[in-house]
Order: sequence, then C-alpha cells, then structure tokens
Amino acid sequence: MTAQDTERDYMFQRSVPDHENMREMVTELGAQFIEYYSTVLDIGTGDGDQIARFIDKGREGAYANILEDVPPDIDAADYIGIEISDPMLEAARRRFDGMNGVNIIKHDLREGLPINGWMPPGERLTLVTAILTMIFVPVEARYRVLSDIHRHLEKDGALIMVEKVIGEGPAMDELLVGQHEAFKARQGCPDDDLEGVLVPLQLSSHVANLKAVGFTHVDTFWRCLNFVGIIAVK
Ligand SMILES: C[S@@+](CC[C@H](N)C(=O)[O-])C[C@H]1O[C@@H](n2cnc3c(N)ncnc32)[C@H](O)[C@@H]1O
Repeated sequence: MTAQDTERDYMFQRSVPDHENMREMVTELGAQFIEYYSTVLDIGTGDGDQIARFIDKGREGAYANILEDVPPDIDAADYIGIEISDPMLEAARRRFDGMNGVNIIKHDLREGLPINGWMPPGERLTLVTAILTMIFVPVEARYRVLSDIHRHLEKDGALIMVEKVIGEGPAMDELLVGQHEAFKARQGCPDDDLEGVLVPLQLSSHVANLKAVGFTHVDTFWRCLNFVGIIAVK
C-alpha cells in the first residue's frame, strides 16, 4: 500500500458525517465487551486511534468487569492492531511505543485474519473493531474475514463495524449520496476518487453475512446518512 493510498483512506475517514459522535458510541459500546485480562482486536487500525480511546476508557475504570485492585495506570486488557500500510504501522507503533500490552501487526486482511502467532495462548478475544475498514477489503475476501473473526471470538464477544452502505433501493441511495456530497462540500473535503475502489454493500447484506458466519444478535447502534455502525454478538 502506497503513501497515496493511505492519504486516500484518511481523506475518506474525514468525510464521515457525525464522525466524533460515532467514535464516542464505538468506544462506549465497545468498553462493555472489554474485560480485564481479555484481548481486543482492531482491524485496519490506521494510527491506532480506536485502540487509544479504549485504553483511555479502561483507565477511567469503564470496562465490563471492574476490578478494584487494578491500579489505574495498568492497561489490564491486551490490544492487537492489524494494518497493512507502512506509514500507518509506523504511526501506530510510535503512538504505543514503550507500552506493554499493545501489539501492532503487519498483515493483509485479503488473506483473512493471520493464521497463528498473533493471539497469545490462553488469551480471550472479547471484542473486535473494524472501523471504516471492511469497505477497503475486496468483497470476495470479506466473508473469510468475518468468519475468522467469529471463530476467534469468545462466546458473547462482539464485533463492532462501521461501514459506508448503499441505500435500500436506487432512489434512497441517490438521496443519501446527494446529502453526503453536500456535507463534504460544506466541510471543504476535496473530491475523492473512490468510485470503483470502495464497494459498499446494503445494510441488509452486512446483516445477512454476519448471521451467515454465525453471529446470533446483529443490530445497528449509530447511523448518519450512508454510514452505519453495526454490532454483532456471538
Ligand atoms: C479509513 S482507514 C480507518 C482507520 C481506523 N480503523 C480508524 O478508524 O481510525 C482504513 C484503514 O484500513 C487499512 N486497510 C485497508 N486495506 C487493508 C488490508 N487489506 N489489510 C489491512 N489493513 C487494511 C488502511 O491502511 C487504513 O489504515
């Protein structure tokens, strides 16, 4: 992945409406699935922003199983970030330099999740986040990624995904896309050239795929125009 690709991906991130609110929802909701001594996986982690937010949340004592005896400066959950872009890997590694319990791994999600060696033995994966990532993964590889995530997650663990979606039907899609274009223009976002690079699916397809790989409960927790936050619990 080139530096231009990375810049393009981040341009895309900045064009997401209600972005900060979405981050807060992901962080608050995700914290309900993080436990002391569990593992969190963030795929397409970028510069590690979402992991950093979870670490901050944990230090506020917001994880699911509050342990009185854990000092607030101890990050008692483990975090793994998967990323393919060298500039992003470097940025994430710099961000967490010297911190125990954060591991940033170079891996291409087109191959699914890494086969082995990335989860320490005995660890329990209770939360996976994929924030604005799956849309960059070719459609033919997405099912494998979802299925690997489901297999590795603990029972009652969750996948939180934020995705750009197609409206349900051409008229609705046109309306949402038009509003998103207007939002980007108001924000001064440069015109991106992502048509044909990103392949959004309809929300109903995401829900069907998540159920097909075995997730029991699937729902949405945030939406703004054609961007949706989805939670799937095993
Ligand atoms: C829009 S950015 C989102 C970054 C991060 N999840 C966040 O929300 O801050 C998408 C990220 O996915 C990464 N990515 C895209 N394709 C990937 C692949 N095949 N394997 C691993 N990472 C990938 C990009 O390098 C980029 O960092």
